[in-house]
Amino acid sequence: MTIRTVGIIGAGQMGNGIAHVFALAGYDVLLNDINPDSLQKALATVDKNLERQVSRGKVSAEDKAAALARIRTTPVLAELGPSDLVIEAATENETVKQKIFDGILPHLKPETILTSNTSSISITRLASRTDRPEKFMGFHFMNPVPVMQLVELIRGIATDKPTYEALKGVVEKLGKTASSSEDFPAFIVNRILIPMINEAVYTLYEGVGNVQSIDTALKLGANHPMGPLELADFIGLDTCLAIMNVLYDGLADTKYRPCPLLTKYVEAGWLGRKTQRGFYDYRGEVPVPTR
Ligand code: CAA
Repeated sequence: MTIRTVGIIGAGQMGNGIAHVFALAGYDVLLNDINPDSLQKALATVDKNLERQVSRGKVSAEDKAAALARIRTTPVLAELGPSDLVIEAATENETVKQKIFDGILPHLKPETILTSNTSSISITRLASRTDRPEKFMGFHFMNPVPVMQLVELIRGIATDKPTYEALKGVVEKLGKTASSSEDFPAFIVNRILIPMINEAVYTLYEGVGNVQSIDTALKLGANHPMGPLELADFIGLDTCLAIMNVLYDGLADTKYRPCPLLTKYVEAGWLGRKTQRGFYDYRGEVPVPTR
């Protein structure tokens, strides 16, 4: 099946990045969000990030204009009906995702591939509640989507080969690299990355180091582009905690217990960059460690 039109549900941090890379690769994009303001914000973000690429000579001004012209926004989920591929990139909440699938399924063509950008929820379970478990897959992009090279491909127990091959082809057309993961809690990237972040929070909690010394240690000692606490703020502390809980519940192993300090930050509403406060305070000119 040829994929030309891609429907993206959710215009947040991930959704706008996914729209950006698909439009730039020549796909027609239908971007949906229940909140019309989020759609406007998403278009402004895509414009800004494309301009960043133009100013660095990575994208031409013509390609930027063509990419923007390929993105159509709509607050009406049913308007994504003509899509050949649908990518759900809504909040990391199974009930929300379930409602979205229930809402869109009656409008889709039988051959449309349905995917979720979930970072941890069981693909097999999400797929089993749709009318097309064989055409359902996990399609996990990394943040920031225009910059990160990897896309994780996760097959549910029922996913068929043509669906998997079609998505591998899409990843190639995007100029990115696919890594295949079996459908177990948090897949590969987050199975390794989020416990590392959780361990960094334990290191802080136990007073082994402060925010600055922990981040400097990993940046300069292990060549990570961001320290683990800076990265936690970038991902969102609520997301990190949700993924730790998926690992803890799904693998039933105490080594995945979330650090109480991570829980406390989330309880405080200090969720990282998106709320302007997490392990750093972003309200001033430069980020200031909160511990
Ligand atoms: N759109 C387009 N381009 C962007 C961009 C965006 N949103 N954000 C950054 N860039 C570009 C910049 O323009 C710059 O381009 P050049 O190399 O051409 O100059 C380049 O990316 C680097 O950006 P900056 O110079 O502004 O900043 P930096 O060097 O500090 O890099 C970073 C920023 C790319 C985010 C880097 O710090 C990094 O790689 N951090 C780690 C990110 C990471 O680990 N992401 C995975 C998170 S986990 C995840 O996503 C999975 C999950 O489910 C939780």
